[in-house]
Amino acid sequence: MASPIPITKAVIPVAGLGTRFLPATKAMPKEMLPVVDKPAIQYVVEEAVDAGLTDVLMVTGRNKNALENHFDRAGELEAVLTSKGDDEKLRKVDYSTHLADVHYVRQGDPKGLGHAVLRSKMHVGREPFAVLLGDDIIDSRDPLLSRMLEVQTALNTTVVALLEVDPAQTHLYGIATVEGTDQEDVVRITGLVEKPSPGTSPSNYAVIGRYVLRPEIFEILERTPPGKGGEIQLTDALQELATGPVWGGGVHGVVFRGRRYDTGDRLDYLKAIVQLASDRDDLGPEFRPWLKSFADSLGGGGDEGWQGGEDG
Ligand code: UTP
Repeated sequence: MASPIPITKAVIPVAGLGTRFLPATKAMPKEMLPVVDKPAIQYVVEEAVDAGLTDVLMVTGRNKNALENHFDRAGELEAVLTSKGDDEKLRKVDYSTHLADVHYVRQGDPKGLGHAVLRSKMHVGREPFAVLLGDDIIDSRDPLLSRMLEVQTALNTTVVALLEVDPAQTHLYGIATVEGTDQEDVVRITGLVEKPSPGTSPSNYAVIGRYVLRPEIFEILERTPPGKGGEIQLTDALQELATGPVWGGGVHGVVFRGRRYDTGDRLDYLKAIVQLASDRDDLGPEFRPWLKSFADSLGGGGDEGWQGGEDG
């Protein structure tokens, strides 16, 4: 049965403490860290808008001012740029102001991702909605969210994004047990576990920061006790949907094979900047030759591959 309600709402939790990035995140949310010349959060909002979601709710914590200011008018700056006739920079300032209809709700204490999502209940109402983690960037050349929305509309279940990770990395993610479907990039999820201890992971399918949820998730989250790390885990609520009674229709995964950058992790953050800057038309032509000679100057000392993602 197809969902009759078009999905328009995106929830972006940005209330985490970002401790892996201290001291940069002492007074600023990690989602505001620049990736080349845009804060990470702007890439995420652009992705939501590209997928047709224009109503964005950010679940914020302390230090929310920088975020709110980024998506609001910047009167003084705009006045200076206008007086100088610098239209190009003015466009850059103005762009994020009108990108989406952005709303905010406070999380209070950062009690976990599940708790942050639960804070969106009033705004979302009884509709399916997307959740995008504000520190997870999906390369715009490899669309993921639009495919997830399509799968959600077709199956009317809960849909999460999965990435096959190096088995040595499974303890850093929520991990899914899966069954194939008749679609090559879609699996049915039969179980989920948050950050399994090394050597105990049921698979290497990791849940990454994109979800299309049905409103039943709120009823589950309301009674989900704190789990791993003492936090209310979204993974635990999804596990109930995947394995519990058939209400809610179960959970499917869209297997993502594109480029993704975890900007909450220092090493992945550095890789994201280098990769995205290399590919830019304005910076790439000068940056790439420099990067190549810099890499050559390292000689055989570099023992890390380009794609060998590593969390901290
Ligand atoms: P993370 O676990 O990566 O965020 O949460 P963190 O706790 O801020 O990171 P570290 O480990 O201390 O460096 C994933 C996403 O969920 C949000 C975060 O902002 C991030 O986008 N989150 C997490 C919340 O909004 N609230 C929470 O209570 C926890």
